[in-house]
Amino acid sequence: MNIIKKLPENLINQIAAGEVIERPSSALKELLENSIDANATEIDIYITDGGKTLIEVVDNGKGMTANDLEMCLQRHATSKITDGDLVNINSLGFRGEALPSIGSIADISIDSHDVDKTESWNISVINNTLKDIEPSVIREGTKVTIRDLFSKVPARLKFLKTNGTEVRYCKEIVKHLAMSHPNIAFSFHTDAKKIFYWNKSEGINFLSTKTRLKQVMGEDFINSSVSVEEERPGMLLVGMVGMPTLNRNTGREQYLFVNNRPVKDRSLIGALRAAYKGLMEHNRFPVAVLFLDILPSDVDINVHPAKSEVRFKDAGRVRSLIINGVRNSLEGAGLSTASEISNALLNKMNINSSSVNEVNNNFNLNNIQISPSSRLLDHNESDVFEKEITYPLGAAIAQTHGTYIISETKNGIILIDQHAAHERIVLEKIRAGFLNQNMQKQILLIPEIVELAEEYFEAIISNIEKLTKLGLIIEKFDKKAVLIREHPAILDKVNFSVLINDIAEEIIHFGSEFILSERLDNICGNMACHSSIRAGRTLLNSEMNALLREMENTPNSSQCNHGRPTFIKLDIKDIEKLFGRT
Ligand SMILES: Nc1ncnc2c1ncn2[C@@H]1O[C@H](COP(=O)(O)OP(=O)(O)O)[C@@H](O)[C@H]1O
Ligand SMILES: [Mg+2]
Repeated sequence: MNIIKKLPENLINQIAAGEVIERPSSALKELLENSIDANATEIDIYITDGGKTLIEVVDNGKGMTANDLEMCLQRHATSKITDGDLVNINSLGFRGEALPSIGSIADISIDSHDVDKTESWNISVINNTLKDIEPSVIREGTKVTIRDLFSKVPARLKFLKTNGTEVRYCKEIVKHLAMSHPNIAFSFHTDAKKIFYWNKSEGINFLSTKTRLKQVMGEDFINSSVSVEEERPGMLLVGMVGMPTLNRNTGREQYLFVNNRPVKDRSLIGALRAAYKGLMEHNRFPVAVLFLDILPSDVDINVHPAKSEVRFKDAGRVRSLIINGVRNSLEGAGLSTASEISNALLNKMNINSSSVNEVNNNFNLNNIQISPSSRLLDHNESDVFEKEITYPLGAAIAQTHGTYIISETKNGIILIDQHAAHERIVLEKIRAGFLNQNMQKQILLIPEIVELAEEYFEAIISNIEKLTKLGLIIEKFDKKAVLIREHPAILDKVNFSVLINDIAEEIIHFGSEFILSERLDNICGNMACHSSIRAGRTLLNSEMNALLREMENTPNSSQCNHGRPTFIKLDIKDIEKLFGRT
């Protein structure tokens, strides 16, 4: 007797489902891809309980005949590969396993109208049993209804997040696919409520894509990003990328496409990240929509069951295309990679005698001009100086470039990054205000309106009370904007739009498990970062000394909350080495 047996069909399907259908949004993705492949121009999506009890997609595509309807639930049955060619695939699907997989882990019902025969049929799998085909009343396209996903694999159910979070994943899928298909209208409903409708434009081109991006990403993105267009033989990169100031604390708003197929490919994400190197803190993420078109023979799309990763024949060329394309656009917009240069300089300042010449060559003294508006202290006359110099961070001597404070201590000099230092102080104040429940607030004379993308809006609205405890008094303004009435008094000239977006991002990232006290550091950090004394502000000597004293009394003040140092200390001994005196 054989001990090795062929697995039963249903188990094979469940195993396939395990790879492809991770959560409701993955089932939704498969249905949407099918509707797009069927040349639909209108797609309506209905989700109930985060997709756990119902996912329904209704399209106006070409539909299926009764025979095809029976075939479509068979494993490895597809209409999308005709001559055994895996290279020139123009459809989103090709594996022919989505529908049978779903049928093995949920109830599924498919109604379809066959244009040629003008007849409509329904087929369904209920409780793992394939039902006979029946007449249907549907008038066009196809309607696929999935009920009680994972009810047959309870292990999976346990891994699902709250309904709200699952809805968010679903929306992400719709967004991603909608961006690359501006020629299709999308409507999205959750729990019988219409959440959005994006109308369609003609064709897939620059104009229609831009219109769709506006619908999906919001005006803010369009206004704070630059277009990318870069070509190499056999490759074309187009899209829009956010200016470095438009950044997020996750990479969720990076939408990448290969030959108009949405991907979450690590090599592409890495290239995007590299393109922003030196322009953004290491823990921040750019916002980007990038479409890469490449010869089908130069990319393998069949390396991932959910088709979200791809493999390039020449990954290096693709990487360089992305880095150059994005970089050129950002630099064209007038940005340089200042921090890269300063990092190099800082390394050089790691003083040892052999690097003295290098330091001399690079550290051109002409660059350290005392800005005319900053004031030099007259040492001889100052009692203040005698007193301040005894403190750990010493007495402020000068401010340079409106950015750095130079102070003198008993045994050296200190260079302070005023912005980073202030940021740390603000952070600690907000944190203390929250913990002691005595946040000092300031009322805005003119309340500020901040427009938000839909899910960001929802995240803020549902956490208004929590945010009050942080001194942020926010109200609903209209369907997509909030009004900021009061803010923590310590915040100065804050960019509310960026701040509120960041807070929303933080909330979304942690879903309904979001607990303010646990995320306090990040939220306070965001507030501090967007409000602190910006580099470029001229300070009076007394203000500089006040800042230094405050730093001494602030926990963790040697680092800003991005982990950058707030000051650099040079001992007299180091300085002597630098000048070759020892
Ligand atoms: N919405 C739809 N409209 C028309 N045909 C569909 C639709 N959904 C599925 N089909 C048909 O069912 C087949 C099987 O679908 P699926 O299991 O997702 O595999 P694949 O998309 O990889 O071919 C498709 O090849 C297609 O012919
Ligand atoms: Mg499919």
